[in-house]
Amino acid sequence: MSKPCQCSIIGTGSYMPSKVLTNDDLSKMVETSDEWITTRTGIKERRIAADDETTSDMATAAAKQALEAAGVKPEELDLIVVATVTPDMFFPSTACLVQSKLGAKNAIGFDISAACSGFLYALQAARHFLNGGPRMTALVIGAEKLSSLINWKDRNTCVLFGDGAGAVVVRRDDRKTAPGRVLSTVMGSDGTLADLLKVPGGGSACPITAENVALRPNTIYMEGRETFKHAVTRMYQASLDALEQAGVKAEDVKLVIPHQANARIISAIAERLNVPPERTFINVDKYGNTSAATIPVALDEAQRSGRLKSGDILLLVAFGGGFTWASSVVAW
Ligand SMILES: CC(C)(COP(=O)(O)OP(=O)(O)OC[C@H]1O[C@@H](n2cnc3c(N)ncnc32)[C@H](O)[C@@H]1OP(=O)(O)O)[C@@H](O)C(=O)NCCC(=O)NCCS
Repeated sequence: MSKPCQCSIIGTGSYMPSKVLTNDDLSKMVETSDEWITTRTGIKERRIAADDETTSDMATAAAKQALEAAGVKPEELDLIVVATVTPDMFFPSTACLVQSKLGAKNAIGFDISAACSGFLYALQAARHFLNGGPRMTALVIGAEKLSSLINWKDRNTCVLFGDGAGAVVVRRDDRKTAPGRVLSTVMGSDGTLADLLKVPGGGSACPITAENVALRPNTIYMEGRETFKHAVTRMYQASLDALEQAGVKAEDVKLVIPHQANARIISAIAERLNVPPERTFINVDKYGNTSAATIPVALDEAQRSGRLKSGDILLLVAFGGGFTWASSVVAW
């Protein structure tokens, strides 16, 4: 693959649905407790989209905020990439639906499926698309309505996930000191471990039929303990690789913005990197795991709360179904 061009994140946005589902609410639905969920995951509550609220609705709301923050009009967009495993439908892509809702008539759009690593995969895809060609400005979105894939009777998974969307506007900018520039990205995949985390049904391998519908094959299945181990190992190594590629030391990182699946995974990575807790961003307590949305939502919250200063080195790192993993270093 060609080397990606210099690209900068010039605006961020996010949208979280208003409905809050607490651990206590869940303990009335399955045999669980606030104590179990909090100690094992760090999650206290999550947001659940309204029945008529789609992934593209949430993506569009986050995108509007990011465009406003960047001072970019929808017609100026050349590219829209949406990372999601919960598209509104198989096709058209969620990106095309967002294009229509924004009125971004000059943009091309497509989706990326890389589960919880999707946002960083999409960011890297946008960097390559902006490389050398006529395209200058991209919208990169992570958006999920995971509540549509949850088996609300399975306590192993239903307590972990939530809905939401985050977005960034990315612009080609060859200046070596441009704010928000992406310094490095590393990515990896291991399809031999696909069975550990998946939604087995609803696709062409196992269409939903009248006979199998009661087995709920269209909901999330996860071997949590195995997934946990791979997540820590891969996210740590990807972080080291992205730092090395960027020529940055872990001690120079001002804020680690990791995928938010489990507070214990996040602290295990921070410990290995020797980054203190105050330089690690955590909002999994409020939102649970929103898959591709976690990193852009966290980035937007960090930015809007004034936690990011110009020039800060950020380390973004993700892991998800596939398995997939990715890490990027950004100079804010
Ligand atoms: C899912 C996860 C929180 C489970 O924590 P864990 O400490 O590994 O717990 P286990 O899965 O070993 O389960 C321990 C026990 O708790 C029970 N349990 C599972 N979910 C429960 C719940 N919501 N409430 C109460 N008990 C629960 C299990 O049935 C098991 O009981 P048993 O010992 O009698 O069989 C953790 O493995 C995890 O976060 N995994 C990775 C998540 C992740 O990264 N996912 C996606 C990457 S994007």
